Amino acid sequence: MIKACVIGWPISQSRSPLIHGYWLRKYGIDGSYTRQPVEPAELAAFIAGLASSGYAGCNVTIPHKEAVFEMVARADDTTQRIGAVNTVYVRDRKIFGTNTDGEGFLNNLRSAAPRLTLANGRAVVLGAGGASLAVVNALLEHGVAEVAVANRTADKTEQLRRRFGSRVTAIGWTEASDHLGDCSLLVNTTSLGMKGQPDLTIDLSRLSGTAVVTDIVYTPLRTKLLADAAARGNQVVEGLGMLLHQAVRGFSLWFGVTPRVTEELHDLVARDIDPEFRR
Ligand code: ATR
Repeated sequence: MIKACVIGWPISQSRSPLIHGYWLRKYGIDGSYTRQPVEPAELAAFIAGLASSGYAGCNVTIPHKEAVFEMVARADDTTQRIGAVNTVYVRDRKIFGTNTDGEGFLNNLRSAAPRLTLANGRAVVLGAGGASLAVVNALLEHGVAEVAVANRTADKTEQLRRRFGSRVTAIGWTEASDHLGDCSLLVNTTSLGMKGQPDLTIDLSRLSGTAVVTDIVYTPLRTKLLADAAARGNQVVEGLGMLLHQAVRGFSLWFGVTPRVTEELHDLVARDIDPEFRR
């Protein structure tokens, strides 16, 4: 039996076991995917002992993504640029780390908004934390001409600009709405709008009718930002799809099958988040 897991501290909220468990059943694979609470002091030992504990790999979530990046044998270029690992896999008893958040973000957009052309366009990204790094990097790798980033703490937008260069512009948190005029994509990567957090309030009146709005928050499935954007006729892409799409490569690395993100899987996880969910 092939074993994988998700590690974090705490870990009880993770929906990854639901996703990977669905695929294991769907593809008839003799495998398991469990939640493993790992406290920071035990992280290095857990990662070093991954192969001898019989794991093919694991997902990594808060607060371990940056620490695991420092512990893996080799990370690919995208992961180096992000400086954080969300997927670990074992090959020849060596431990490799990669980051699938960026491809999860892009593949969610591709699948839900296939007509959106990002190359040579402009995007506005709200937030400059860990998730923003993966999103900004993915947009730049995808050929977006300019990514304007707004963050409550201005220092962090400056750091992003230094990290990624002149295609990133730092804009003031309160001025974000002034920069919406010619953007084709607006992304929220902050935790605002998440259940238990304040809503994100931004004036969308300058946003073009053809712009797509997406949120990486998926609890609730449709945040206030997305509801506001949809109410004024913009196409919106919910964040749950990013969670589903970022899981694909890990499953393939551990279990040897590239799984599909289907409506059935989406609805299973959506109902876990919101029992009232109806397609
Ligand atoms: P993640 O890994 O999910 O990105 P993070 O690195 O802690 O988590 O980043 C959280 C993001 O949400 C940051 O951009 C943070 O802004 P600051 O850098 O100013 O802290 C943003 N955020 C969280 N609460 C916020 C609030 N009340 N108002 C504005 N931004 C907020």
